[in-house]
Amino acid sequence: PVLVVDFGAQYAQLIARRVREARVYSEIVPSSMSAAEMLARDPAAIILSGGPSSVYEPGAPQVDPKIFDADVPVFGICYGFQAMAAALGGEVAHTGAREYGGTPVVVAADPGVLLRGLPAEFNVWMSHGDAVATAPAGFTVTASSSAPVVAFEDLATRRAGVQFHPEVAHTEHGQTMLQRFLYDIAGIEPAWTPSNIIDDQVAVIREKVGDRQVICGLSGGVDSAVAAALVHKAVGDQLTCVFVDHGLLRAGEAEQVENDYVAATGIRLKVVNAQDRFLSALAGVTDPETKRKIIGREFIRVFEAAAREVDTERHVEFLVQGTLYPDVVESGGGDGAANIKSHHNVGGLPDDLRFALVEPLRTLFKDEVRQLGLELGLPPEMVWRHPFPGPGLAIRIIGEVTADRLDLLREADLIAREELTAAGLDRDVWQFPVVLLADVRSVGVQGDGRTYGHPVVLRPVSSEDAMTADWSRLPYDLVGRISTRITNEVREVNRVVLDVTSKPPGTIEWE
Ligand code: XMP
Repeated sequence: PVLVVDFGAQYAQLIARRVREARVYSEIVPSSMSAAEMLARDPAAIILSGGPSSVYEPGAPQVDPKIFDADVPVFGICYGFQAMAAALGGEVAHTGAREYGGTPVVVAADPGVLLRGLPAEFNVWMSHGDAVATAPAGFTVTASSSAPVVAFEDLATRRAGVQFHPEVAHTEHGQTMLQRFLYDIAGIEPAWTPSNIIDDQVAVIREKVGDRQVICGLSGGVDSAVAAALVHKAVGDQLTCVFVDHGLLRAGEAEQVENDYVAATGIRLKVVNAQDRFLSALAGVTDPETKRKIIGREFIRVFEAAAREVDTERHVEFLVQGTLYPDVVESGGGDGAANIKSHHNVGGLPDDLRFALVEPLRTLFKDEVRQLGLELGLPPEMVWRHPFPGPGLAIRIIGEVTADRLDLLREADLIAREELTAAGLDRDVWQFPVVLLADVRSVGVQGDGRTYGHPVVLRPVSSEDAMTADWSRLPYDLVGRISTRITNEVREVNRVVLDVTSKPPGTIEWE
């Protein structure tokens, strides 16, 4: 792999993704990792990422200088650029001159390999206080800004670096420069493709599982669907999937799992119809946190009972989880740390039902999971599905959850989704919750009569990761069409309102 050394800024994940977009496999490692450990992974190259510190600050994370004794290509970015310069005998200065944001850089007369063929001047994204004053011996300086050295390279040792952030979209030619390093300086072949990933994972799963039995819970979401499809490709009939239909999914979603997904994969599926059980458990409950707790508890109970049946028939030893790479990195990156989180996900399963985990998506980002899903032949509507909360529509009904209200909300939600898709805007929106204010009524007029119905809230948001979000500026005529259709077609709804709150201060969901 290419190792991306994380110096504690938010950029390491983005760099790792960009490297993979260049079809080169990458992994993130902490800066505390020793050179010996890094080299033990036989890295094709090492990328030193940006970080918040100054290289001369006491306690600043340092890269183990022994990586420079090895014959491994190294690329330094921002803080990593300075750390590399300092480690190799260059000079890093507290210039006091800060560059932040969009900054023009000027390419030197000799643009080297990294900047070859790029415009003489272009804009990059900078974020630094210190600057490299003198490049280490052997390096050619290939660009400057108000700082004298913002790009350098040494082809003999296959090392290069840039002061700016090639991984962010605001840097012009960023991906080109990253690829120049990977392909032309480090000499790496771009060979990481979805079908490669599938072949690798299939081999790993077969090795781990052997001829033993595996179980997987499907939620209707992308991650569990792709994880199960991969495991099925690896061990076929040894996999049993369980789908708990809690009745809180949107229109068509249960059918998508039970029909389209099964048809596409040939997976053996055990469906548990638990709608009534969830409705009874939720009767009379209006508090959001209580709803969540009840749903979580009932879900574990129902899944446990189903898993026990499968276990009795087949003696199950493994449980598939759709854990993704960002979860692994955020929970510490190490295997131990990530397992704590995974176990937490299946928390509640009793000790005599402890399964070993199979997590085939542990090294993948969400967009890669989607690519795999398409490659595995899953229904595209499923692969491109927006994120959807585990407690489902229950936390989009403000007030008590009843069968009737679920039906109303499903109708309104379907209209919003249909119109968004018809407008070709599915991929422009992160999520589009539709919320039923079941405890609110307002007066309206329809035909000749007064109505006294419920409002529905449209909550389209754009986001990168759901941690922050902004309300989506959907075209007004689209919002208008959704409003007209909902008030015409959904009985008891006589008003549609648009939520124009960002997160923070609002959350994406209303409960
Ligand atoms: P909020 O409402 O906190 O949501 O801005 C952030 C993201 O998390 C989803 N969400 C949940 N997902 N169980 C889940 O699996 C939950 O209880 C839950 N609550 C919110 C929400 O849809 C959004 O993507």
